[in-house]
Amino acid sequence: MSQMDKDRFLSMAVCYDRMAPRLMPAYDLFQDHVIDLLHEGDCEPDLVVDLGAGSGILLEKILRRSARSRAVWVDSSPDFRNVAEKRLAAFRDRVRFIECALEDDWERQLLGAPDAILSMSAIHHLESGQKRRLYARCFSLLRPGGRFFNIDEMSTLWDDAYRNTLHYWARHVEQARKHVPAELADDCRAWCERFDRWKARNIDGAGRAKARGDDLHEPFLDQMRWLRECGFLEVDLFLKHHLWSVIGGRKPDASSRTPH
Ligand SMILES: C[S@@+](CC[C@H](N)C(=O)[O-])C[C@H]1O[C@@H](n2cnc3c(N)ncnc32)[C@H](O)[C@@H]1O
Repeated sequence: MSQMDKDRFLSMAVCYDRMAPRLMPAYDLFQDHVIDLLHEGDCEPDLVVDLGAGSGILLEKILRRSARSRAVWVDSSPDFRNVAEKRLAAFRDRVRFIECALEDDWERQLLGAPDAILSMSAIHHLESGQKRRLYARCFSLLRPGGRFFNIDEMSTLWDDAYRNTLHYWARHVEQARKHVPAELADDCRAWCERFDRWKARNIDGAGRAKARGDDLHEPFLDQMRWLRECGFLEVDLFLKHHLWSVIGGRKPDASSRTPH
């Protein structure tokens, strides 16, 4: 194996980019649904921010859908940035990269109020207080009428049902990996080794106290309340499939009535 190939396989970001759509249940469905929501009523969002944007798969879809849209990639990982820069190279005039932790001051580098702020599979790494603060910052940043969506691992209302969602993902990976083409076998193995650690934390270690850096799956209902408390209107659960929920809302515009 050449050094270049070794480096390629060492990068979790490359491996994630190739495997997530295959091994995460309904990966494309979630993204495509949120993009449809953004374009409802023939809207074409101008500035869209993706928090924890990873390899840029979601942003690429947004930039392809509308020539009017501009994108902001926010993520703390230089490895993911490398992959995203390649993926989004054709759109380089329309993308801005902000390499920064979500807890830090990424908004300072934004050039204008976003029409939409999105996130997929990233915010669950933050603790409750950090999540709430991030939601409040997103609310302040959005232009009036702007939309926020979080597609993420979240727990549900009762523990037994939540446990089922964790086991569902484990079973899904066991099945889906059988269909990964041979040329991606190394990426698949690397992804599954990481997933084994996820299973150890979340399934074998169920009930153990969670700490910073764990997968912190607060219930979707609590997180929807936090959005509402920030001032978002039309807060809803837009899609749920086992462990993943899509929650979001709209910042009021000048004509919005105060909600009850
Ligand atoms: C599981 S990947 C998801 C990537 C992409 N959103 C997707 O769904 O394909 C999680 C991403 O969130 C980023 N991330 C996790 N915690 C973060 C934090 N506190 N600040 C910034 N980025 C973070 C990681 O670097 C990684 O790119």
